Amino acid sequence: MCGIVGYVGHRAAQPVLVNCLKRLEYRGYDSCGIALLGKDVEIYKDAIRIEALEKKLRPHINKAGIGHTRWATHGKPSQGNAHPHADCTGKIAVVHNGVIDNYLALREKLTQEGHKFRSDTDTEVIPHLIEKYFQGDLQEAVSKAIGDMSGSYAFVAIHSDWDGMVVARNESPLILGVGDKENLVASDVPAVLDYTDRVIYLEDGDIGVVTGDGVRCFRNGKQIDREVHRIPWSIEEAQKGGYAHFMIKEIHEQPRVIRNTYKGYISALEPVVNLGIRKDAGINDILFIACGTSYYAALVGQQVIQSLTQIPVRVEIASEFNYSDTVLGRTWVIVITQSGETADVMRALKKAKEVGCRTLAITNVVGSSATRLADETLYITAGPEICVAATKSFIAQLTMLYLMGLAWASGDIRSRVSMATELRQLPDKVQQLIDREEEIAAFGKYLAKYENVFFVGRGLNYPVALEGALKLKEISYIHAEGYPAGELKHGPFALLTPKTPVVAIAARDNTYDTLMANIKEIKARESPVLAIAEEGDIEIEKYVDFAVRVPKVSPIFSPIVNAVALQLLAYYTAKERGCSIDTPRNLAKSVTVE
Ligand code: F6R
Repeated sequence: MCGIVGYVGHRAAQPVLVNCLKRLEYRGYDSCGIALLGKDVEIYKDAIRIEALEKKLRPHINKAGIGHTRWATHGKPSQGNAHPHADCTGKIAVVHNGVIDNYLALREKLTQEGHKFRSDTDTEVIPHLIEKYFQGDLQEAVSKAIGDMSGSYAFVAIHSDWDGMVVARNESPLILGVGDKENLVASDVPAVLDYTDRVIYLEDGDIGVVTGDGVRCFRNGKQIDREVHRIPWSIEEAQKGGYAHFMIKEIHEQPRVIRNTYKGYISALEPVVNLGIRKDAGINDILFIACGTSYYAALVGQQVIQSLTQIPVRVEIASEFNYSDTVLGRTWVIVITQSGETADVMRALKKAKEVGCRTLAITNVVGSSATRLADETLYITAGPEICVAATKSFIAQLTMLYLMGLAWASGDIRSRVSMATELRQLPDKVQQLIDREEEIAAFGKYLAKYENVFFVGRGLNYPVALEGALKLKEISYIHAEGYPAGELKHGPFALLTPKTPVVAIAARDNTYDTLMANIKEIKARESPVLAIAEEGDIEIEKYVDFAVRVPKVSPIFSPIVNAVALQLLAYYTAKERGCSIDTPRNLAKSVTVE
């Protein structure tokens, strides 16, 4: 989604803005621009990469400005549609993330009043509305402008007759970075980490006034206090640190991420799990709501938690839940969202709260929107995930779901203790797998020449097959489908040929024998089969063409090692194809529109 940055302080704003925009590149964008505040507002923008824009800039010493990376929603990527957008006088500039629902009506009215529009965007109505209402006070003009607007927005406005920036938020994320004699605005934390680790999360309906001397927040015209959060992420964590891509760095971080996620919850002396969150006796069932990779984590969590706790667990895709008549009785609604900002998830969370459900957010981002809305929060502590494709956050989500299952399990204490002990050994198992990444890289080279790949699994590893297919398609652009292994014969068999390899996840659980039967059926259609199989599983060699070996773990933990193997497979396939791995085309890290 669009990235917003703003700076005011003692430094020259231009290099700061460019640097902050680079830190937001991972969100995905098709055009970018900056505006510098001086006697006039100077705007540089185009449908190009940030590095190319940087080359076009002439040195400026201005101490304030705003910047933007655009992800087109209204109007194609072009110089005219790129942000910042200006008013007729050229004194006002605005960057915006979100969608102004009533922009057509506003545009028509403003046009009748004499305003001239130069782009196809919804955003452009904002600077014109501000121009209409400006009488020397930018805060007042912004406040009146948002009174006319409906929809979602996070925007920053500057005016050449006003010192600093005015920002407003409704249903799109916006943070203020609080520095020393310098302050920043951004749509996401990594943008400001070079300058400060102290941030304020604005709430819907807030207006912020940001100058070099300080930040002030207002609501309904009254000044209010907003908590300053200290972000526990270092700038090094948000940098590549010698790796070719963020994705491979983040895959390598996973042993540490698993450890960090369970650390506070399992005591070293007595391996029992205490989450500090109790399952309430009055709860009838759990409903997980999530999107994309987080949804696949929820599908694994459903099986784990149901089997360990006997609590019925349902799972819904957030965007479907929002338009469904799902019955919510005494249901505990748990949203899983890495970013804590996904618009579909936020809407679902609001819907669950409105009907009085108890709510819990599982997220990675301290202070994110989901944490502020949900009754309770569990943090996965994966550290900043910069690559658009989720990897370490998925593994951390799975770890948290195992912890939940163990914390609320009703079974025999000895088996719980032995599971908790094995959970603590998973980082070493994942490390053993990562140490053999060269072998997986060779399979990536092999897959890279195909255009269609199926992923199959059963039971706990069916969602892992879905995740494997999602990883491959999003970063390598190979068409990939995930299926329960038993379903191929109900239709997809029609597509199997020697040119459609099948990746089969062969966990040593009660589904193994049937999976072997499914593999035989696939081989009869002459598709090459690549298995993800446990070390020491000799049997599998009778059935498949190749096998990626994963360390032996109990079947319940097999999704962790299998998912890491599939992440590496997708990474090396995409690398072989020369793809833009960290920022795949058309995708955004934080999806803040519905
Ligand atoms: C895929 C991916 C997405 C996200 C989805 C939900 O690699 O990253 O499918 O999982 O957009 O995002 P969060 O978890 O931030 O709600």
